[in-house]
Amino acid sequence: MKKVLITGGGSGLGKALAEVYGKKNYHIILVGRTEYKLKIAVDDLKNKEISCEYLLCDISENNQINELFKNIKDKYNNIDYLINNAGVGYFGPLNHSTLEEIDNMFDVNVKGTILMTQKFIAITQERVLNIISTAGLRGKVNESVYAASKFAVRGFTESIQKEFSHLDLRITAVYMGGMDTPFWDESTHIADKSRLRSPIEVAKEIEANDDGREEILIGK
Ligand SMILES: NC(=O)c1ccc[n+]([C@@H]2O[C@H](COP(=O)([O-])OP(=O)(O)OC[C@H]3O[C@@H](n4cnc5c(N)ncnc54)[C@H](OP(=O)(O)O)[C@@H]3O)[C@@H](O)[C@H]2O)c1
Repeated sequence: MKKVLITGGGSGLGKALAEVYGKKNYHIILVGRTEYKLKIAVDDLKNKEISCEYLLCDISENNQINELFKNIKDKYNNIDYLINNAGVGYFGPLNHSTLEEIDNMFDVNVKGTILMTQKFIAITQERVLNIISTAGLRGKVNESVYAASKFAVRGFTESIQKEFSHLDLRITAVYMGGMDTPFWDESTHIADKSRLRSPIEVAKEIEANDDGREEILIGK
């Protein structure tokens, strides 16, 4: 059974990707910080007859990534998919961005993605999917720091595509617009998130286009 590791798998797009890849008969390893969310996600997925488990890890902490890696390597030796999905966003005028918010966006979105990839790429057999955002393609008002973090992940992804082009492993940058997920729960940046695309719809489109191409761009 192929093994798919998904960071930020307890909610939103990560959980939806777990459902979509789980239905292909892949074993899903959900990774996140918040145990109750991960437990609920695993129960929901198991009710859909999906093989899955969760492991706790704050991807902004290198020692936790090392421990996660050891657990997975000892148990499975390798994985087939690494889906770098975990991310955070704080929106508003630049002058209102706090140092804590700036640190958090770079620690999770950028450093977390880099450290996870650096650690796991040697044992990842088939695919790395980096979940970015259309904010990694174009800057927008009140998204300056978030967009900066997503542009960084784009630069990282394009560079490792070249660096690891000799491997069978394919690395894909995934860009999508707004989705109706808990991402927006603490934010007023989006007036009505229910108008956005559902994460399950987006996850299905990602999987349908997941053929090893360098970029997947999900339209509105
Ligand atoms: N929603 C949108 O409109 C939208 C649009 C384009 C791109 N995206 C991107 O899509 C990805 C998924 O977001 P989403 O919309 O599904 O939001 P979400 O439901 O808030 O999911 C984000 C997940 O990231 C996890 N996470 C945050 N910090 C973490 C850390 N330090 N270590 C490990 N896990 C961490 C959270 O879980 P824990 O609480 O368990 O840590 C959460 O489950 C993000 O990269 C986001 O930037 C979202």
